Amino acid sequence: MKSDFFKYQAQTTPHPLAMEISHASGSYIYDTDNKAYLDFVAGVSACPLGHNHPKVINAIKAQLDSYLHVMVYGEYIQKPAVELTKLLANNLPSSLEKTYLTNSGTEAIEGALKLAKRATGRSEIIAAHKAYHGNTMGAMSIMGYEERKQAYRPLLPDVQFITFNNETDLEYITTKTACVILETIQGGAGFIEPQEAYLEKVRNRCDAVGALLILDEIQPGIGRTGKLFGFEHYNCIPDILVTGKGLGGGMPIGAFTASGKLMELLQDNPKLGHITTFGGHPVIAASALATLKEITESNLMQQALEKEKLIRKLLVHPLIKEIRGKGLMLAIITPSEEITNSLILKCQEAGLILFWLLFESKAVRITPPLTITNEEISKGCSIIIKALSTIED
Ligand SMILES: Cc1ncc(COP(=O)(O)O)c(C=O)c1O
Repeated sequence: MKSDFFKYQAQTTPHPLAMEISHASGSYIYDTDNKAYLDFVAGVSACPLGHNHPKVINAIKAQLDSYLHVMVYGEYIQKPAVELTKLLANNLPSSLEKTYLTNSGTEAIEGALKLAKRATGRSEIIAAHKAYHGNTMGAMSIMGYEERKQAYRPLLPDVQFITFNNETDLEYITTKTACVILETIQGGAGFIEPQEAYLEKVRNRCDAVGALLILDEIQPGIGRTGKLFGFEHYNCIPDILVTGKGLGGGMPIGAFTASGKLMELLQDNPKLGHITTFGGHPVIAASALATLKEITESNLMQQALEKEKLIRKLLVHPLIKEIRGKGLMLAIITPSEEITNSLILKCQEAGLILFWLLFESKAVRITPPLTITNEEISKGCSIIIKALSTIED
C-alpha cells in the first residue's frame, strides 16, 4: 500500500506522515498494525465529535437508505439540507439567516467573495497578512503569504492586505472596498486572536464606507472556541459568515451565510450566481445536521473551555514558550522549527497525533475532538511532556 500511495496518489509535500489507517473510533485512530494513536488534531479541526460518533454514523446510514444525489444544488427540497440551514439560522443572529452549502471551505470563500462583489458593485478585496482561506484561485489570492502563491500568479486583481490587529491599517478600507475578509482567529499564522475591540473597529469602519465584512470561521467555528462561532467572543457580527470543516462532522462541507436580502442577489440578474452540483448533498447534510445538533444540545462547548484550562495546566515545560488560542483551538509555541518537528514526530512514535500550522513553523497544533475526555487529555499531555524532556534546546 505504501509504495502505491507514493506512486499513484499525488502528494502535497515530499515528506507526508504516511501512516496507514485501519479504522478510527472516539479519540483514537488505529494503523494497520493495530497501533492506537490518541488524536490531538481531529482531522485538522474537522472532526469535532471524534471518530465514528454513533449519532453521526446513524444519520449517515439512515440517509444512505433513502437517497443520495438527486439534483444539482438548490432545485429540489431535500430535508437534510433544509433542516441543516434552519438549525444554523436558529443559532445565529437574525441578520445571518440564509445559508448556501458548498463542498469545501475554499468554495464557500469563493461564494462569499462573489456575493460581496455582486452586492457592492465594487471589486477591491481587503484581506490580512498571514491569512489562510483555502487554495482555489480566489481563496489563494487573499492568502497573506506570498511565498506560497507566487508560482500561481496572476491571481485576482484588486486585493490589498492589512495587518491583523493593526488599527492604523483600517484606513485602507475605503468606499472602493467591496469587502474585508478576516479569519476570526488567524489559524495558519499561529492561532492569533483579535485584540480587544479590533473586530468591532473593523466592523465600524466597514459600516462607515459601505464595505461588507466577511468572517472566516471555517476553523474556529462549530464550538471549538467554547462558543458556536468565534465572533460571539468579540462583539462583532459579520455580513457574511463562512463555515466548513467541523460542520461536516468528518464529511466534506463548506457554507456561507448572510441575510436573505444579500443571498437573494445570487438568484437573479444574473441568475445562477453560484452553481454547484454536489453542494448540500443529502448524506453530508445529514452528517452535518447530526453534528450541529449534538454540539448545540450538549455541553461540549462549555466543556471546551474547561478542557483548555486542563491542557494549559498540564503543558508546562521550559520548551513551551507560549500556548496560544482559545478553547480547543490551541497551539504550543516552541523555541524553534527543529524542536517543533522533533516533538511532532516523537509524539507520533509514542502514539499521539500532533500537527503543524501552515505559516508558523514553531507552532504545534492541539485541536482535539471536543468529545475528548479529561483522562485522554492527561494521557496526551504527559506524552508531550515526556517527549520534550528528550529534546535538547
Ligand atoms: C480558516 C480556513 N479557511 C479556509 C479553509 C479551506 O477549507 P477547505 O480545506 O475545506 O477548502 C481552511 C482549511 O484549512 C481554513 O482553516
